[in-house]
Amino acid sequence: MKKILCIILMIFIFIGCSGKNDGEKINPADYEVIGEVVNGERVIEVEAYQFGFEPNYIVVNAGEKVKLNLTTRDVTHGFMIDKMDINVSINPEEIRTVEFTPEKNGVYEFWCSVPCGSGHRTMRGYLIVK
Ligand code: CUA
Repeated sequence: MKKILCIILMIFIFIGCSGKNDGEKINPADYEVIGEVVNGERVIEVEAYQFGFEPNYIVVNAGEKVKLNLTTRDVTHGFMIDKMDINVSINPEEIRTVEFTPEKNGVYEFWCSVPCGSGHRTMRGYLIVK
């Protein structure tokens, strides 16, 4: 009996660890691409604040050049997409530009990488690549 329970547990652990997107419940098909294309690049304005990002769902097409214009409403924040090697800080009164071309569709979590107060850990969002 113990052995069976152990096997069932192993199966659950395996399912829990198997490869999947950052945002399991996000279906890219439910989201519309945002921003506007300027000179062949999709330009999206993103504002960080205590404590979140506006917008917190950044939706783009795979294979398309993306330019994020990052600003902050209050204090210095960070913008990090670990899986895309992006990590910048956004200082007040500044526009921080990040350019990249996401090659693979999927859902990638982004978050604030600069300690910015009590809600720092809740500053998260998703880059959705369709
Ligand atoms: Cu914003 Cu940490």
